[in-house]
Amino acid sequence: MKVTVIGTGYVGLTTGASLAYLNHEVTCVDTDDRKVEQLSQGIMPFYEPGLHELIHMRPDHIRFTSSAWEAVMDADVVFFAVGTPANEDGSPNLTFLFSAVEETIGYLRMKSKPTVLINKSTVPVGTGDQIDRKVKEAGLANRVMVVSNPEFLRQGRALFDTFYPERIVVGGEQAASDVLETLYAAVLNQSFESPLLTGRPDGYSLPDYIRVDRRSAELAKYAANAFLAMKISFINEIANVCDRVGADVRQVAGIIGADPRIGPSFLQAGIGYGGSCFPKDTRALQFIADTNGYDFKLLSAVIEVNQSQKFIMIHKLYEQLGELAGKQIAVLGLSFKPGTDDLREAPSIPLIRTLVAAGAKVRVHDPVAMRKAAALLPDSVHFAGGILEALSQADAALLITEWPEYTSMDIGKLKSVMRRPLVIDGRNALNVSEHDELEYIGIGIGMKGTAGYVYANE
Ligand code: UDX
Repeated sequence: MKVTVIGTGYVGLTTGASLAYLNHEVTCVDTDDRKVEQLSQGIMPFYEPGLHELIHMRPDHIRFTSSAWEAVMDADVVFFAVGTPANEDGSPNLTFLFSAVEETIGYLRMKSKPTVLINKSTVPVGTGDQIDRKVKEAGLANRVMVVSNPEFLRQGRALFDTFYPERIVVGGEQAASDVLETLYAAVLNQSFESPLLTGRPDGYSLPDYIRVDRRSAELAKYAANAFLAMKISFINEIANVCDRVGADVRQVAGIIGADPRIGPSFLQAGIGYGGSCFPKDTRALQFIADTNGYDFKLLSAVIEVNQSQKFIMIHKLYEQLGELAGKQIAVLGLSFKPGTDDLREAPSIPLIRTLVAAGAKVRVHDPVAMRKAAALLPDSVHFAGGILEALSQADAALLITEWPEYTSMDIGKLKSVMRRPLVIDGRNALNVSEHDELEYIGIGIGMKGTAGYVYANE
């Protein structure tokens, strides 16, 4: 099929590259000429494992342009994958989406070929209906259909999630969802050769193709993210109770997660969720409920818990060091999670700013996100060329992102360069034994000091 993708952000580019790999003819459109130019030269605007390689596997099937006109005129389907950033009040900003929609509808008036407009951007319930109204007002109802096709991709695993989804959700009329069933046929039947080194996961079963109405598809995206965010805030509160009663949240999570009604995933306690989706989508759902006259209390609590959870590391640091002024603190990890250089809503940024404001001398390290972080952090922050440089002479180290290079760190070397071997692990990711003689503090796992295992209230 001839596919046009408007917006070359993380969702748009992943969608375009994967459909090109599946032998569709893909045109990716962006208003940013520089970005288009770079993409045409194979330069990625962000880091996503495997994406660069995937685009190079089908150079004849994907192209980049800033001219929506030619791309739309030829297309069987047009994806909208533009950003919907949060406004001050938490509502999603739909300016980019509607300007892309208006422009596309303008071109569709001059085209006789049937076209399906597919919205992939996360939007308030009813946005698809609004687009549909615009299509009807333009007199295009007989040849243009509108569907909602939410994505559930995780950054860093975007290609894996695209090729091996659990479900593909399409909200809209039957004829339009038939078109998408054909578009996604190779994924639905798994009739393609895996482009990924990992290959098809063991025990993977074919994805469900779920046809629903547009509004349910739109709400499902928010509901899925809010539910996952709730699991994280829930286990983080259990961790905070663990710290007070002397229990280990990892064991508690293991036990509750063994119940299939709860499930083991998203029960990793730590300093809370960040990224471009959970913080934005939980606030947007709260806004949607609010503006429709419903006080979504549980969701408000999820958001509030997440806001305070990151600062638990600072409390733990104060408990150990007393004053922070003049203390040297190493920060390991900046991105909101491993496998990405994305700093959106990353807990590292407010944490480092708080440390600097308290007078601490901060040295940071991250395998991929340091360049982006430089613009967001105070000038006094030192960007270290390596892990040991960040740890050198530190009074404490904070592990913020569980990159494999940190979790596999040689503890002996770490201790030899630090002034005090104190590590506060915001992700409970380090594998530390008593013999390491490290002062080790996690989230909800008590503290392992040289004198053994002690809890805050002992
Ligand atoms: C998420 C959803 O998983 C995805 O389905 C949706 O389409 C977009 O939002 P993403 O933001 O890429 O994807 O990251 P994810 O891996 O889900 O992690 C989000 C945040 O939650 C990270 O900051 C992570 O550190 C945190 N997290 C995740 C936890 O703190 N504990 C967990 O158990 C899981």
